[in-house]
Parts: sequence; C-alpha cells; structure tokens
Amino acid sequence: HSGAEGAPGTTPLAVALEGLRRLEYRGYDSAGVALVGPGIDGVAHAKKAGKLANLVEELDLRPLPAASSAIGHTRWATHGGPTDQNAHPHLADGGRLAVIHNGIIENFAELRAELAAEGVEYLSETDTEVAAQLIAREYRATKDLTGAMTRAARRLEGTFTLLAVHADDPEKVVGARHDSPLVVGLGEGENFLGSDVAAFIAHTKEAMELGQDQVVTITPTSVEVTDFDGNPADAKRYTVDWDAAAAEKGGFDSFMDKEIHDQPQAVADTLRGRTDASGALVLDDLRIDESVLRAVNKIIVVACGTAAYSGHVAKYAIEHWCRIPVEVELAHEFRYRDPIVDEKTLVVAVTQSGETMDTLMAVRHAREQGAKVISIVNTHGSTIPRESDAVLYTHAGPEIAVASTKAFLAQITAAYLLGLYLAQLRGNKFPDEISTLLDDLRDMPRKIQTVIERGEYVRATARSMEDSDKVLFLGRHVGFPVALEGALKLKELAYIHAEGFAAGELKHGPIALIDEGQPVFVVVPSPRGRDSLHSKIISNIQEIRARGARTLVIAEDGDDAVRGYADEIFWIPKAPTLLQPLLAVVPLQIFAMALATAKGLDVDQPRNLAKSVTVE
Ligand code: G6P
Repeated sequence: HSGAEGAPGTTPLAVALEGLRRLEYRGYDSAGVALVGPGIDGVAHAKKAGKLANLVEELDLRPLPAASSAIGHTRWATHGGPTDQNAHPHLADGGRLAVIHNGIIENFAELRAELAAEGVEYLSETDTEVAAQLIAREYRATKDLTGAMTRAARRLEGTFTLLAVHADDPEKVVGARHDSPLVVGLGEGENFLGSDVAAFIAHTKEAMELGQDQVVTITPTSVEVTDFDGNPADAKRYTVDWDAAAAEKGGFDSFMDKEIHDQPQAVADTLRGRTDASGALVLDDLRIDESVLRAVNKIIVVACGTAAYSGHVAKYAIEHWCRIPVEVELAHEFRYRDPIVDEKTLVVAVTQSGETMDTLMAVRHAREQGAKVISIVNTHGSTIPRESDAVLYTHAGPEIAVASTKAFLAQITAAYLLGLYLAQLRGNKFPDEISTLLDDLRDMPRKIQTVIERGEYVRATARSMEDSDKVLFLGRHVGFPVALEGALKLKELAYIHAEGFAAGELKHGPIALIDEGQPVFVVVPSPRGRDSLHSKIISNIQEIRARGARTLVIAEDGDDAVRGYADEIFWIPKAPTLLQPLLAVVPLQIFAMALATAKGLDVDQPRNLAKSVTVE
C-alpha cells in the first residue's frame, strides 16, 4: 500500500496487515512487513515464522514507526523452510531496499553464484533474497527503482510476483509479474497492490489487472505500467462486483462453515442470466466460433484437486447429453505426457483461483497444440481466463477456506451449463428437453439448502467418530467423484487416511481393507434412476456389511430399500441422477468439517496446504 499516514486502521501498515489477513489463506507458514517513510532510517521491518498472528504479536511488542508505504507477505515455503530468517521481506542495499516475492525463481542458483562472486553475502537460503540482491545491484547503478525492477525481471526465470520499496523514495512501491498474479487497487490519494483483490477490497472496488510480464509503479497519486523493456503498457481496469462483507465470516465459526452455507446462493448465481427471451441457453462469455464447437470430437477436462472431481462429474453429464467423448485428467499429468490434442479437441480447464500453475501450464500446452480452451473459473482478473479462448465464470463469490466447497458446487453447475449448451448447439437435445433439465437445475439451490438444514445429524455423527483413523467412501457413476471428494475433504481437514473407490471396484481389491467396525460412506444413487445402478450399489453395501463394515449411507428421501443395510442414513432430497452430486457431497463436506473441528484442528487453514498453488 502506498498512501498517506491517516486515521488508525488506514495507515499503510494497518492496510497491509489487513490485506495479509484476507490473503492468509494463500499461504501461512510465515509473514512479514516492510515500511518506508521520511522518518524511517532505511527500511523498518518485522517478520515471523508461523501464522500472521505471530507477526501481529511481534508488532505489538515492538511497534514500527509511521510510514508512507508498506509491503507485506504471507509465505508458503518453497526454497528454505518456514523460519523467521527465510520469511519475507528480504533486505538488500545496506538495509535500504526490501523485496517480497511469490513463485519460484528457477535460475536462482546461477544468479546467487554470480552475485556472490561480486561480494554479495546472503542471510537466508531463499531464491527471494537473490532477487532482492539483483534488484539492489541494478538500483545502485541507476538510482531508479522501476528501472532496476525491469532489468532484474528480465534476468529472472521461473515464476514471480515481486514487490519492492526503497528508502530513497518512500512513496513508491514497484511490482513485477511473470506467471504469478498481481492486481492493482485504485484509491483516492492511495493505491494498492495485491495478489488478489481481497487484499484491498475494504478500500476500493476499482481494480486493474496487470498483463503478463509487466512492471507497475504506484505512488499515492499515480499508477504507471510498463513491459519488461520499460515501454509503457496497458492494463485492463475493472470494478469488483462483490464487497468486503463477502470475504468475512459473517457470524460463522469458520470460513468453511460460511462457505458451505453459501452453496445454494453460489449455484443460483452461477445459473443466473443464462437463458435468452426464448428460453434458449446463452453463454455470452463463450467467445469461440459456434462452427468450431460443433466440430469438436473430444473434450479433455484438466484441473487439480477438488476442481478435477467436478470434471469427473462433467464427464458423465457431457457424454450423456452430447455424445462427445470426455476425458478428465489431472493438469500436471496431462501437461507432461504428450497428450493427443488437436484443433478438434476442446480443453476445459476448471479452477477456482484461476492461478493454479499446473492448470495454467496445461492450458498453454493445449493451445500450443491447436486446441481451443474454455476455462471454468471463479476469480475474475486471474491468469487462466486471460489465457483461455473463452471463459465460463462461476459466481460463487470469494472462497477463503483452503478446502473448496462452494466453488466445487459452482464448478459442477457450470459444467452442466456447458454440457447443455453443447447439446443445444449440436442438436443432441430438443429445446424442451433442455428447458426441463434447466428447470431441474434451478430447483437445486432449494434442495441444497434442505441438505444444509439437516446438517446437525451429520455433525453429531462426526463428533462421535473423532477417533477414526481410516474412513472409506464408495460411489458409482456420478457418485464416484462424490466419494473421491468426500475422501479428499477428510484428508485435507482431519488428516485421516481416507480413500474413495468406485463401488464396483471394491471386490477387485480394496475390500481387503474392510474389517470389523470399519466406517464406510456409501453414496446411493436415486432408485428412480436408470440402469439398475441402485440395486448394484445395494449389493455392494451388503458385501461390505457382511465383512463387518459400519455403513454410513447417503440416500434419497423415500429410498426405503437402504434402511436394512445402513448403520446411519443421511437423507437428501430427490433429484435426477446426474444432478445428485450437488446434494450428495454436502453431508460429506459437513462431516469432514465437523470431525476436524472435534479434533481441535483449524478447518480454514489445514497444515501444509495452500489455497492457490502457484508453483508446479
Ligand atoms: C489446491 C487447493 C485445493 C484445490 C486445488 C485446485 O491444491 O488446496 O483445495 O482444489 O488447489 O485449485 P483451483 O484454484 O485450481 O481450483
């Protein structure tokens, strides 16, 4: 933040700390701040390993002086462990320059050696300190911080967002970005930089999205953008469509709990405004020529983590509705296996953050092979939508808890919309069939609400299972990705060994894991559904029960057949089979959250995880 020293809460330090609090979900193994101002000799700074609270405590014990500009950072360790020493900022130029960094600088060893040969000594093991020393060397030659950043950025390989302040020019903050996010917040008499608009949303909704390989210089009254060669460059202005309250807990114990409760709204908002006056589906943010979409002969969904499970659901729906083969692949596997992709392949990248590096690399690779890329993204102004041929935004609002919930439901919803749109365009479905399916979809928020209202029974069950050390999840068809997601949630939040299986696969091996009392969740498809899916899964439940499993069953209201086989039943409203994941996953989310809470764990910031993983 660069701005004048003002009322309490609006000082550059207070603004930076507040921004860090809002961004802490991105990484939280250490945090630090650096301040420059006319009354400060050099750079004032503080940094601490551990969560942001440790830094705040340190600042209470040893307050820093008033400043003109402040930069701050929360870290998720890549080079060097999470220690005070390795935390950002890193200082150089005799303690007059401070730098913070996101990403990984791949040629850091070479640069480190080059600078060491010139006499530079290092205090940390980080790649960031090397960048700081490089900027310092360029600065000493020119006394121009923007120019120094530009020249340093040209030397760096890998991914980075860098911010720098220098004691010589305390009203200035200079940033650079390459394959890692950086947005500008435009205020009055103050300006902001952040990895995400959440950092400054309490102060301004006017934002500017920097392009790839740009350098930005802010002062309280100016914003200048150049490319890495120093030529003036354009950046796109936009207005953020949510406010600070959307990024607050709003009375819930955790962001995750709030975000689970946001789910009916997230799905409703994602569906809103997608039909024209005649009722036909319109996806107006889809900028690919219709003839190209008609010619598509294969779809590959690329994503990571929870987003990849939404892709699994998409596969079942799109193949059924459009008769196009759909593959789902983890983005990092897709990228490095020489996949068969051409102009007739449609790649669908699914990502909440729009910044996941693995997914970004998959997008780039697909486009290089001639494929069109549609991204399903929640975060406006992020990198992946900018690099895609078309975007379908989910409107889940900001998701803060590291473990994804509402973004997942919104991703599934967007995937349904894409499937129906392709079916409409390619004539696989009659308009009235599409409108019936859309009506079914529009009923889902109310039904999700019902599942949430029934949550107390799930919570009570979870509390009674605090000592479980292994939990299995089974599902068939679209229930299979739900089982995978249920297991992932439990691993992420409660650190319990959990695994999801296709129920039919159990007898081919995993059934050996079942012994007396083993908890197994089973997602039961609608008894009204097709292809005897329901009776097949009832057989699967019997197989495991006969071996002592304790079965926790998710079943549709009125499905009396499951009563005889279930130790616990979590009822969900009736819905078409393909849409059931929007309901069936909710008890599993609540279960994982409640079990982790019972164990005294932090559900919003599980150990070792970061929300947006901007390294490969
Ligand atoms: C990280 C998060 C996961 C998330 C995945 C994909 O690993 O911890 O919760 O599902 O990234 O994130 P994206 O932003 O691409 O959806």
